[in-house]
Amino acid sequence: MRCKKTVVIGVTGGVAVYKALDIVSRLKKKDIDVHVIMTKAAQEFASELSFRSLSLNPVTTDMFDRPNSFDVEHIALAKRADVLLIAPATANIIGKISNGIADDMLSTTVMATKAPVVIAPAMNTAMYENPIVQRNIENLKSYGYHFIEPLSGRLACGDVGRGKMESPEVIVEYVEMLLHSNKDLKGKNILITAGPTREDIDPVRFISNKSSGKMGYAIARAARDRGANVTLITGPTSLSPIKFIDVVNVYSSEDMYKAVMDNLESADIVIKAAAVSDYSPLDYSSIKIKKSEDSMTLPLRKNKDILLEVGSIKGSRIIVGFAAETNNVLDNAKLKLSKKNLDMIVANDVLDKGSGFDVDTNKISIITNDDIISYDILTKDEAANNILDKILEIKR
Ligand SMILES: Cc1cc2nc3c(=O)[nH]c(=O)nc-3n(C[C@H](O)[C@H](O)[C@H](O)COP(=O)(O)O)c2cc1C
Repeated sequence: MRCKKTVVIGVTGGVAVYKALDIVSRLKKKDIDVHVIMTKAAQEFASELSFRSLSLNPVTTDMFDRPNSFDVEHIALAKRADVLLIAPATANIIGKISNGIADDMLSTTVMATKAPVVIAPAMNTAMYENPIVQRNIENLKSYGYHFIEPLSGRLACGDVGRGKMESPEVIVEYVEMLLHSNKDLKGKNILITAGPTREDIDPVRFISNKSSGKMGYAIARAARDRGANVTLITGPTSLSPIKFIDVVNVYSSEDMYKAVMDNLESADIVIKAAAVSDYSPLDYSSIKIKKSEDSMTLPLRKNKDILLEVGSIKGSRIIVGFAAETNNVLDNAKLKLSKKNLDMIVANDVLDKGSGFDVDTNKISIITNDDIISYDILTKDEAANNILDKILEIKR
C-alpha cells in the first residue's frame, strides 16, 4: 500500500526557477515523494542535477528519453501524482494547457492526470496582465485548475507590478492543504471567530483580555484543510494570517458583532472561539486621560452578547461556543450551552497547566446536550480536529 504522498512539480522557463528548488526541499522535509519535470526552457535557468539532488528522484526532461524504470514511463507520473504543481508557471505553459496542447512531457502529464493541478504563475507584469493570459487563466479556473495568484513587487526585469511568484512557503502550504486526504467538511460554510477584542478607553489605552487567538486559528486551519469554506473573524492577534480562507479583521466587540451578523446568513456552522470583551468604557475620552487622584473609577457598559443573539436566530445552523473558565468549569459551561441555545460548548480551565491562553496546548471538555467528553492535554491542532469531528456527529 502506498502511504507516502507524491507531488509532481512541473518547472517551466522563468527566472523564478530557483524558488522551485526551495519548494522541492520543503516538500521533501515533510516526507513527501517529489518528482520533477523540467521543460526545455527551464533547463536554461537551473540544472537537472540540482533538482535530482534535492528530490532524490530522477528528473524528467525529455518525453522521448528511454525510461529507465516503470516509474518514469510516459504517463506514469500523471497517475502517481496526488498533486501536480507547476511552479514557476510561464505564460507559455498556461496558454498550452488552456488550449489542450500536449507537446512535451509536462503538458502531456497535465493532460493525463486526474490529480488536482496547482499553477503558480511568474512573469513580467505586462505578460501577466495581457488579456490573452488572463483569459487562459479564467478558462483553466473554470475547469477546476487551482491558481496561486502572483504577488506585486519588484520583478527580475526591474519592473514593479504584479507577476512575482508567491513564496515557496505559501505554495507548499497550499499543496499540503490539497494533500490532506480527509475532506469531510467539503461544501460546508464555517464561520469562526478568534482572538480578543479591544475596547478603547482613550487614544492610548484599551480594555482587552489574554486571548491569543491560537485555538480559533487552529480550528480555521483544520476546517480549511478538511475542505470547508472558512470565514475567520479575528480580533487583534500576533499570529500569522491564515492563507486561502476569508479573513475579516476586527478591533472591538461592536466590530465583531457587525462582522458576525454580516457573515451569518451563509454559515452552516458557527464556532465562536473569540474572547469578546463583556464590557466597554461607558464614555470614550478623545484625549489621553491624565493621572490625578489616587484611585479612579471607570464606568463600564455591558456589550452585546453575540453568542446569545446568534443562538436565538440560529435556524438550522450548528452553533458552537467556548467557555474559558477558572472555576466550576463544567457547570458554568453547561449553563451557557442551554442559556444560549448552543449545540456544543468547548470548555477549558484557563488556570490548568498547559491549557488556555497563549499556549500551544489545551485541555478541553466537549459538551453537547447528550454527552460530555473530557480530553487529556492535546495540541491545539489536535483539539481543533476533535472539535470538528464532534460537530460532524451532530444530526440536523
Ligand atoms: C531571461 C528570461 C527570463 C524569462 N522569464 C520568464 C518568466 O518569468 N515568465 C514567463 O512566462 N516567461 C519567461 N521567459 C520566457 C519563457 O522562457 C519562454 O516563453 C519559453 O518558451 C517558456 O517555455 P516553457 O513554458 O516550456 O518553459 C523568460 C525568458 C528569458 C530568456
